[in-house]
Parts: sequence; C-alpha cells; structure tokens
Amino acid sequence: MSNAADHSSHLPTSLLLVGAGKMGGAMLEGWLAKGLDPSRVAVLDPKPSPALMDLAGSAGLRLNPDRAGLTPPEVLVLGIKPQSLAEAAPAIAPLAGPDTVVISILAGKTVADLSRALPQAGAIVRAMPNLPASIGRGATGAFANASTTARQRELTQGLLGAVGIVEWVENETLIDAVTALSGSGPAYLFYLVECLAQAGCDSGLDPSVAERLARETVVGAAELLAGPGLDPAILRQNVTSPGGTTAAALEVLMGHDGLKPLMRRAVAAAERRAGELSG
Ligand SMILES: NC(=O)c1ccc[n+]([C@@H]2O[C@H](COP(=O)([O-])OP(=O)(O)OC[C@H]3O[C@@H](n4cnc5c(N)ncnc54)[C@H](OP(=O)(O)O)[C@@H]3O)[C@@H](O)[C@H]2O)c1
Repeated sequence: MSNAADHSSHLPTSLLLVGAGKMGGAMLEGWLAKGLDPSRVAVLDPKPSPALMDLAGSAGLRLNPDRAGLTPPEVLVLGIKPQSLAEAAPAIAPLAGPDTVVISILAGKTVADLSRALPQAGAIVRAMPNLPASIGRGATGAFANASTTARQRELTQGLLGAVGIVEWVENETLIDAVTALSGSGPAYLFYLVECLAQAGCDSGLDPSVAERLARETVVGAAELLAGPGLDPAILRQNVTSPGGTTAAALEVLMGHDGLKPLMRRAVAAAERRAGELSG
C-alpha cells in the first residue's frame, strides 16, 4: 500500500467508482495524482478507456472485478449518466452500504432519487463538478444529506478538492443554482469567445486572427483572475481609463439591458432546466 494514502486522512481506505467516462475518469486521475493508492480503488465501467486498462494492468487498480467479490466500500462515486441510473441501480445497490458515503455527480438526480435507487445508502453527497476538473481546475458545488458524518464530509472534500475548488451548499435546491452557474458556466465562456471573435470579424479582422485574439484574451484574462487575490471588479477598473476605449465598451455591457440582466436570464433558464431534469 502506498505511503501517500496511509499518511492522509483525507483519502478513503476503499473507493468504488461506477462510471469512469469523461468526468469520472478525470476525477480518478486527480485522486491518483493526490496519492490515492490504486489498489484501494475498484472501477466498474463497461467500456474502460485504454488509460484505465493500463492502470489496471500496472498499478493494481481493480477494473470490472467480479461483483460477487465486492463489499460496500468506504466511498462509492457515481459517475454514470443520469439516464443510466435506473438500469445500473440493481447491480450497485448492494454496494452502497449503511457505512458508505455515496458521492453522486449525476446532474438532476436528487438525494431522494438516489435513496430510492440505493435503498441501503445512508450518507449521500450530491456534487456538481465542471469540465475544467479534467485539468485540475474544476469548480464543484456539493450538498451532503443529514446522514453524512464529519469524516465522510472530509473524505468527500478531499476527493472533490483533488480536481479543483469545492463550495458546500446547505440547501439541496441550491445545487440547481450551482449547476446553472459553474456546471454550465464553461460553455458561457466558450460562447463569449465565439461572440468576441465574431465582433472582431465584423470590424474587418480575418476570422482566424479574430479567433486567436479572442481566445487568448479570455485565456490571458482568466490567468490574471487565477492569480493572487485581485477582485474581478478591481482588475476591470485597472484596465479602464476614464473616457477611453474600454470605458466606451463597458458603457454598453454595463447598461440597463447589458450583460448583467442577460446573464441573470441565462443562469435562471439553466436553473429552471436543472429543476425540470430531476426525478
Ligand atoms: N462532463 C461534464 O462536464 C460534467 C459536469 C458535471 C457533471 N457531470 C455528470 O457526470 C456524469 C458523467 O458524465 P460524463 O460526461 O463523464 O459521461 P460519460 O463520459 O458518458 O461517462 C459515463 C460512463 O459511465 C459508463 N457507464 C454506463 N452505464 C454504466 C453502468 N451500469 N455501470 C458502470 N458504468 C457505466 C459509461 O459507459 P458507456 O460509454 O459504455 O455507456 C461511461 O464510460 C453525468 O451524470 C453528468 O451529469 C458531467
């Protein structure tokens, strides 16, 4: 067993990952990079990636072991698609024991849905990561039900924190707000790049030049945001000279029908949709 895992109380003694696709696979990479001993991990996935098969071959991770030999782990992470839950539940249910914490990243599946699917489960955490978790820069919102112990919450924090920041919410309905903000948020930024590039084209720039300038502007600005503690409003003010070009554009963006009400409508639409997808 690896020393890294032995020295950390934030890593589980046993973990079962059900569904190691884009998000589950990215999280697994993050956990292993943080020192989780692969021999403590079992993965169920009908079409494992070549990287996962390598890990199973070389590092002792158990890939698609015989289910009869599996016992409920300390942590069970559900990384399947929400629509696969009903089909997967009968096989998983015996593995979600009363001492297991189930961490679900399934969009729209509530604690009540998960309790119905996994009737023996006590501790259930709903987590909503986002795509940059795949490069260790995720922003995850999490909600723990009342049965989750302090140790289980700490374990969850350690696992989710391996792929980015974690923000806990104390009311489950706020997971829909998290989904609408950070879960779907990367797409809003990608679209911003498309719109910025299009505006540059409309002003006469070559499309490929406009695309590169727009992309690097967002990437560079994001790097500045990721730096030590400057408020986004301060960063904005620092590049806005009174009466200058940036100020002229911000007058439009910050107008009464500008970006703020538009973003509020977009986030509200995503939040409504997240609510509709529950059940
Ligand atoms: N991608 C994101 O940005 C993101 C963000 C936040 C939350 N999520 C959530 O993450 C979950 C997974 O999304 P994803 O994008 O990672 O999907 P994905 O790449 O399709 O991964 C799901 C994996 O689960 C496997 N699977 C299906 N049925 C299974 C079963 N019965 N037992 C074990 N494994 C099974 C799938 O195999 P097959 O391919 O053979 O079906 C696939 O490898 C979703 O619930 C989604 O709501 C995703």
